[in-house]
Amino acid sequence: MIISPSLLACDFLNIESELLAFKDFKDTWFHLDIMDSHFVPNLTFGHPIVKLISKKTEIPLDAHFMVTNPEFYIDTFKDYNIHNFTFHIEATDNALELVRKAKKLYPSVGLSIKPKTPLNSITEELLAEIDLILIMSVEPGFGGQSFIEESYKRVEHFNKLKEKFPQLMIQVDGGVTNNNAANLKKSGANNLVAGSYIFKDGPSTYKEKLESLRR
Ligand code: DX5
Ligand code: ZN
Repeated sequence: MIISPSLLACDFLNIESELLAFKDFKDTWFHLDIMDSHFVPNLTFGHPIVKLISKKTEIPLDAHFMVTNPEFYIDTFKDYNIHNFTFHIEATDNALELVRKAKKLYPSVGLSIKPKTPLNSITEELLAEIDLILIMSVEPGFGGQSFIEESYKRVEHFNKLKEKFPQLMIQVDGGVTNNNAANLKKSGANNLVAGSYIFKDGPSTYKEKLESLRR
């Protein structure tokens, strides 16, 4: 089980020490929520901040692009040592072409699906080529929202497809806490993103928070 702390919830004035606080923890990625205020109402951070973060940590960077024009970001984030590049199926009509393009530049490529988007929009043709499916368990745009219970079924759907596509990592993002992590794992998730839950009580609790999500 990989846990991806979402830096959206970290202390941005002390981001370097926030990054360092995780350096000894295994099976951890840093989740970066890139929002453009078009695909989602909110605006977060972009190129300069990600570039700085990439120079300060060895932990794999997991970038979640909530943007209307993923192609621009595929091209322009390639030098920031991003391990996994995820964009939204709802943001493009040519996902397969973009996945293929991203695969040439990033070790891992993911597609994300919003809570109300039909599951069959992620076709088997796409599943054959991606490394990760990001199942949104809240409407994208903001941290600190409540987990949508129907998400378990959506995780199970992709877990069944893993028989055919064993490479697929199943990531869940939004409202993840110690109250739903075990059930998500049971449903087939093997990568959990968590923002508020991990960061809200400060660095002395990070280790225990990560462990509580793996149980
Ligand atoms: C929401 C983002 C999430 C967010 C999760 O649009 O994609 O990654 O940071 O935050 P929590 O864990 O607080 O719901
Ligand atoms: Zn995210």
